[in-house]
Amino acid sequence: EMTGKCPFGGDRIGGATGAPPTLENWYPDRLRVEILHHNGQSANPLGANFDYAKAFSELDFDALKNDIKTFLTTSKEWWPSDYNNYGPQMVRMAWHAAGTYRIADGRGGAGTAMQRFAPISSWWDNGNTDKSRRLLQPIKQKYGAALSWGDLMVLTGNCALEIMGLPTYGFGGGRLDAWEADNATYWGPEVWDPETARDPSAMVNREKRWRGKPGDADYDLENPLAASNQALIYVDPEGPNGEGDPQLSANDIRITFTRMAMNDEETVALIAGGHAFGKSHGMTPADQIGMPPEIAPMEAMGLGWHNPRGTGNGADTMTNGIEGSWTPDPTAWDNDYLENLFKFEWTQKRSPAGALQWTPVDPDAPKTPDAHIAGQMNDLMMMTSDIALKVDPEYRKVCERFLEDFDLFTLAFSKAWYKLTHRDMGPTDRYLGPEVTVSDDLLWQDPLPPRSEQVIGDAQIADLKAAILATGISVSDLAYTAFSAAVTYRDSDKRGGADGARLALAPQKDWHINARCVPVIAALRGIKTEFSGDVSLADLIVLGGCVAVEKAAKDAGIDAPVPFTPGRVDAKQEATDEESFEWLKPVIDGFRNFVDPDYSSIAHGVAPEQMFLDKAHLMNLSAPEWVALTGGLRVLNLNHDGSRDGVFTDRVGVLSNDFFVNLVDVELEWKKYDENGLSFTLNDRATGNVRFTATRNDLVFGSNAQLRAIAEVYSSSDGHARFVTDFIAAWHKVMMLDRYDIKGHQPYQ
Ligand code: HEM
Repeated sequence: EMTGKCPFGGDRIGGATGAPPTLENWYPDRLRVEILHHNGQSANPLGANFDYAKAFSELDFDALKNDIKTFLTTSKEWWPSDYNNYGPQMVRMAWHAAGTYRIADGRGGAGTAMQRFAPISSWWDNGNTDKSRRLLQPIKQKYGAALSWGDLMVLTGNCALEIMGLPTYGFGGGRLDAWEADNATYWGPEVWDPETARDPSAMVNREKRWRGKPGDADYDLENPLAASNQALIYVDPEGPNGEGDPQLSANDIRITFTRMAMNDEETVALIAGGHAFGKSHGMTPADQIGMPPEIAPMEAMGLGWHNPRGTGNGADTMTNGIEGSWTPDPTAWDNDYLENLFKFEWTQKRSPAGALQWTPVDPDAPKTPDAHIAGQMNDLMMMTSDIALKVDPEYRKVCERFLEDFDLFTLAFSKAWYKLTHRDMGPTDRYLGPEVTVSDDLLWQDPLPPRSEQVIGDAQIADLKAAILATGISVSDLAYTAFSAAVTYRDSDKRGGADGARLALAPQKDWHINARCVPVIAALRGIKTEFSGDVSLADLIVLGGCVAVEKAAKDAGIDAPVPFTPGRVDAKQEATDEESFEWLKPVIDGFRNFVDPDYSSIAHGVAPEQMFLDKAHLMNLSAPEWVALTGGLRVLNLNHDGSRDGVFTDRVGVLSNDFFVNLVDVELEWKKYDENGLSFTLNDRATGNVRFTATRNDLVFGSNAQLRAIAEVYSSSDGHARFVTDFIAAWHKVMMLDRYDIKGHQPYQ
């Protein structure tokens, strides 16, 4: 509660670090520039120089898998396994780790083991995954730093599937754990009522968390979110609003699974495949369950959801609230889920915890053994979200094909599982270990052709640079093209970037914002054809940027080489998933001063500079890198339409610090130019003459205190050389963001 008083009170001073009210309480709309510096190396106990790839590659992978498999079938007293097999609960843990991924911004996913931290650790839907991870702790300790939590969770999911009879499609290690909560990702608009925020039942009380019904004007599965509401991985198992309507449930499933780039076949394979295993737990009403891990009592030592019923585990377990198993043999890979779903009519009933679920109408339908009580047989169970697969006409068609052909279903599930658990890992260069599957057929891997052993050398690079200069293409256009190739990179799922030269392939080549690159690419292709050696278009595009930046620095009086690391390859059109690349298309790109005319950020309640910050975050830039980069791009004029917004210089194409000098100049006066405050003019205080024009994505560097502090550095008398150095370093970083083929070129993350 915010009292406005120091919680320590009295004569003690200090000790109330982080206690509200914080800056967020006072200024909820402030630009949180500090998110750029979260999860920095100072949070990492392994240190910046720890080489995870090396450590992982040296561990005995077969022994590790054996250890995991032995663990899975060895029940522990403090949290006994269902059916004497932890497999199903570990499959759910791994699926929930990966299932936070969404294609729109690439955030979420299993890649950094975020399930360990709030808010994800404490979402209702992650109930008892804290137990799954704690059960794995001895294995984590045994392998130490050589095995990240991210890799351990996914590998345990694979081992579980394997011991239950599913052939897996592959495993790639290489996930680097985060060391603090992710405070940047937007998971949804819901905020708990402060009065009930500490009441865990509020998390299952739909009136307190829900924003309306499907069809209501305010019901909105807000893009890009891939869950129907915060604290769920995907959708409510009881259907929207808990009302048990299977078709409405199917609609939500389709929206949320599509947002993670899963098609109907993959969606059915995943749900039907996953629910071949295990059971749901619903023995205790939710309002009796204790606090989630993040706010559980100290003595719970990070475990949450205390269950007061009986032993609180085993036969008394309460997780989601629905009770029962989908199949007669919940630890075996078989087709019983789909067979029983289709063979029987299902009717609604309530679980002991009060949740809405389905049971076979036919009393002679097969039963399933109790997970703990020997000899007891229970009715089969389906959730509304399972019945959805039978009711929805398109899902039904997929189910029918899987029912007819179990091998087809098996392959579809194992491939979809591989995609689910690996799609946020980025280039396959990052995959580690002996079970990696890389294939041109796996379009979600954004396949690249094999790299040539021989890359161009210094003499050839010099020749190519001369050839690029000789084309007479402007510094602006060369830099624009290189930057446009690289700027699609996002560190969230490590997709995009200059490697592959997908800038020259559909869909990127057709994006309006890339129109300026088309003639440049044509000229670079000409150079490639005439070149006596072998050079990729991707390398030429980046080299063009080097030529431009070096010339711009020289024209500003500074001789500074721009580093160039060759070795990029050119992707093929048929190995490019056009639909999923379309998600990389910018709606707002502050670097190129672009706001999609179809998108009114004001209408969406998001200021352009918030989206600019979001992009800087996705590119893993620090605040100084973001500031230096933008200041340079402006004087080089990298505006997408060639406009002069933010180009605060009379020497376009020269790498001056003019952007900063004029931005912070107190003799000049900025004025709002349009009603919404999206564009501005800079007027001479004395004459009133308009000197420059600007957008929010220019002026934010002067209006925001943290960014202005950096802009001041670059505007100072000693700022120019520093700026050029920092700009070139940031430029090179951007060009190299996706180069996971270069060993140790940057921290692995
Ligand atoms: C269990 C919902 C998709 C794998 C559960 C439970 C719920 C649920 C409510 C019971 C949790 C508990 O009380 O212990 C859903 C919904 C889905 C979905 C609404 C999407 C529409 C998936 C997928 C997979 C999966 C895609 C894996 C590929 C599992 C497994 C369990 C489980 C293995 C059993 C866990 C155990 O035995 O402890 N699911 N699920 N589910 N789910 Fe899902």
